[in-house]
Amino acid sequence: MSDKRTETEIDLKSAYAAVSKTYLGTSLDIHAVCREQRLKSPVYEGDFITQFGVPTNAGIQQGTRPTFALFKYKDVMAVLRDGNTYTSGFIAEGLGAFFDGLVILAMDGEPHRKVRALLQPAFMPENVNKWRGQIDEVIRKDFLEPLVSQKKADLMQFGLELPIRIMYALMGFPSDDPSKYKQYAAWALAMVGGNQIDPAKMAEARQNAGIAVKGLYDAIQDVVVRRRAEGSPGDDVVGRLLRAEFEGRTLDDHEVITFTRSLLPAAGETTTRMFSSVMALLLTTPGLLERVRSDRSLIAKLMDETARYEPVATFKVRETAKDVEFHGVKIHKGSFVQCMVVSANRDEEAFDNPDEFDIDRKLKPAFGFGFGPHMCIGQFIAKVEISCSINAILDLFPNIRLDPSQPTPVIEGAQLRGVASLPVIWD
Ligand code: HEM
Repeated sequence: MSDKRTETEIDLKSAYAAVSKTYLGTSLDIHAVCREQRLKSPVYEGDFITQFGVPTNAGIQQGTRPTFALFKYKDVMAVLRDGNTYTSGFIAEGLGAFFDGLVILAMDGEPHRKVRALLQPAFMPENVNKWRGQIDEVIRKDFLEPLVSQKKADLMQFGLELPIRIMYALMGFPSDDPSKYKQYAAWALAMVGGNQIDPAKMAEARQNAGIAVKGLYDAIQDVVVRRRAEGSPGDDVVGRLLRAEFEGRTLDDHEVITFTRSLLPAAGETTTRMFSSVMALLLTTPGLLERVRSDRSLIAKLMDETARYEPVATFKVRETAKDVEFHGVKIHKGSFVQCMVVSANRDEEAFDNPDEFDIDRKLKPAFGFGFGPHMCIGQFIAKVEISCSINAILDLFPNIRLDPSQPTPVIEGAQLRGVASLPVIWD
């Protein structure tokens, strides 16, 4: 952490670097290790993740109970789609320990179904598309147009700031001081960085996460209380959540504040990473840039194929609520199941030439945004942000290409994947 950090300030760049370091893991090639295991046996008995040196969302419970890993497309799909047999409540003990209130990711069964139904409408394409113009304007006016004359940039700086700047606007924060979002971005990263496997690093990370959790709560509370007093107007996220109702259930202020707060880490870093991988693949795959430049409808396929080929989150963990069996291996109730998304997305039984990045492949669900009851609620927002960004980059930066004087970006990370920098030049 920066020496300049005060009790309430956490620097954005160092917070991102800290998260990347935590989730980078060992130098093992996760695709290669998963392929080898998938071909050897579809079930691994033990903690498969531990060899990569990254924490899981099992948090402090990792290693405390029987653990198994699954690698095949159909097995991962079977687990993620069945929220009754494979539950997520344990997450509240791990990452969720930094949150309180409404942590949807760690909810199960009927309570999850109800809350999800309550929240979902605000995040559906019909609503998100209303924000497209606003998102596009922020991208062009606030971020990219000021860069045009420089003819070079590290696009990661943009990728790092954009998602929280957008969420800041969509949450209905005051627009008089939009630079405030940088503080929120740093706090959001500190919350993600609070989950550590090294006990020596745990204390500082947790302290930072604690500062972040409190800082964000206070900031969002100001907005929520004021908006409620004004009669909860508006089509932004906070306005929609204050008015949301499903089967008689509504959200109180604490739930709106804590859910909104959880959106910052959920929406920020993930979108940054996916943007970085999409751009890296766009700029390094022969012939792709020219195709996408002249046919912008390909951006949707580019994003879908990136989410398959290089998912941001490489695995998801669930707990078994009853005894189950996979390929003759019995898994008892109360075990952890590590769903290796990164493997399932390249299962040769599900995808032809799975290790080839091919935006023309037939559309088929992959697990880059999860699957089943917990599937990413914000995926349409992320896709609108990334597609608007690519369109604006191609419009504003003529003949954009990688900066040949800088190292070629590499997508890396055992738990959260993405590139560290995206140095580009244009004419
Ligand atoms: C490219 C960017 C993103 C990626 C790769 C991503 C990935 C994911 C994944 C894999 C899950 C499933 C978690 C599980 O099964 O345990 C998830 C859930 C979730 N995501 Fe995203 N996400 C992204 C962007 C966003 C954005 C922009 C938002 C909010 C605006 C968001 C909010 C959420 C929430 C609230 C959940 C929990 C849903 C539930 O438990 O029912 N995400 N995300």
